[in-house]
Amino acid sequence: MKTYVPGDKSISQRVLILAALASGESRLRGLLHGGDVEATAQALRLLGVALPRIPSDGSELCITGLGSDGLKSPVQDLDLGNSGTGTRLLLGVLAGSQIEATLVGDVSLRSRPMRRVCNPLRAMGAHLEHLCEEGCIPIRVDRSGPLRSIDWMSPVPSAQVKSSILLAGLVGRTKVVVTEPRQSRDHTERLFAEIGVPTSIRNIPSGHRVELTNPPDIITPLDFSVPGDVSSAAFVLAFAALGGAGVSVTIDNVSLNRTRTGFLDVFSRMGTDLTIEKATFENTCEPRGSITARSSKLHGTEVNIREVPAVIDELPIIAVMGACSEGRTIIRGASELRLKESDRIHSLVQNLQALGVEVVEHDDGLEIEGARRPLKGQVRAFGDHRIAMAFGVLSKLEGANIEIDDPKLSDISFPGFWGTLDKLTQAA
Ligand code: S3P
Repeated sequence: MKTYVPGDKSISQRVLILAALASGESRLRGLLHGGDVEATAQALRLLGVALPRIPSDGSELCITGLGSDGLKSPVQDLDLGNSGTGTRLLLGVLAGSQIEATLVGDVSLRSRPMRRVCNPLRAMGAHLEHLCEEGCIPIRVDRSGPLRSIDWMSPVPSAQVKSSILLAGLVGRTKVVVTEPRQSRDHTERLFAEIGVPTSIRNIPSGHRVELTNPPDIITPLDFSVPGDVSSAAFVLAFAALGGAGVSVTIDNVSLNRTRTGFLDVFSRMGTDLTIEKATFENTCEPRGSITARSSKLHGTEVNIREVPAVIDELPIIAVMGACSEGRTIIRGASELRLKESDRIHSLVQNLQALGVEVVEHDDGLEIEGARRPLKGQVRAFGDHRIAMAFGVLSKLEGANIEIDDPKLSDISFPGFWGTLDKLTQAA
């Protein structure tokens, strides 16, 4: 059976920000109509951008940008809701914008670390003030003045940190260099290239280095179709691999960006029968295509630190697949999981134990002993959309009886998640 997933969350937020900063009209299609993207869109509206409602069917949205100097100080706080990407990327934009704004968010966002972006932005000369707790939002950005160039070594591979610095360089028109220990997702670099702002990218002994040398005065508008979110696809493909969707599922028009598709290697190692077809006609900077998964007999695998950046958002569903596989699944080198929408290591361990699965918790990961029997019990989403969806997949498998306390959280990144699983189950 064929299906689609909604637009990519990371790319949707980036194209909205770049469209807001462009001089002229951008045309965007396939945007995710989800909680995080809506929060970023609403913040851009408060910054003065005439941004229409995001269509729920992926149809075209036209946005006339204000130019890179055009954002206005908002009259109220910018509420980024649950969105770490929106918050960190906008901090970079605001740092370069010479305006005043305060960023706030929900309980989960208030606990997420912001020092990783505030430190480099302050080193560039940004005026950032933590209004409650040092290193967390609410953060006030206060007319930063011209920014200085920077050569920053990020201690963690993080696309949000890298993108925040690159956007500060773009808006503040100053050279920036960011090195991260291992390459994180590269959507910002690709979209910069799309608008004619190439970055130079290379591997060096200390990691992966991105350099923005000549930020332009004028940002070119985008004409862009956002591909389906491969992180959302991961839940559907896992459901198929676990036998929940009958024989097979094909997802069309989904991102095949290799900084995001590491989970496909892990799924294959676990025994998932996958076919990946790149679109033959490609005129965009983001690769896309179709992925088919067939119901398979799964076994455990090991995920290590080198693989983590390209599978970071799929580790919850990999852990849950491990619970239904033969043997042990080991995830290590993933301490960043503790800093996501919830402490995902803790959330996974608590929930798997609640279902009677044997789990070992490590500081930087977990080990799961596959149960290979229908699971029963009550689990919590811990305010985290990916935890809700990972256990949502389990709950829809034959014989399972799992109750999730907050299933609607899937709307943050995958509106239609439950309907998609139901449709696949009925067609099976
Ligand atoms: C994202 C980067 C990743 C990822 C998040 C989205 C992005 O976070 O987990 O869901 O859009 O840049 P980090 O940058 O913290 O690794």
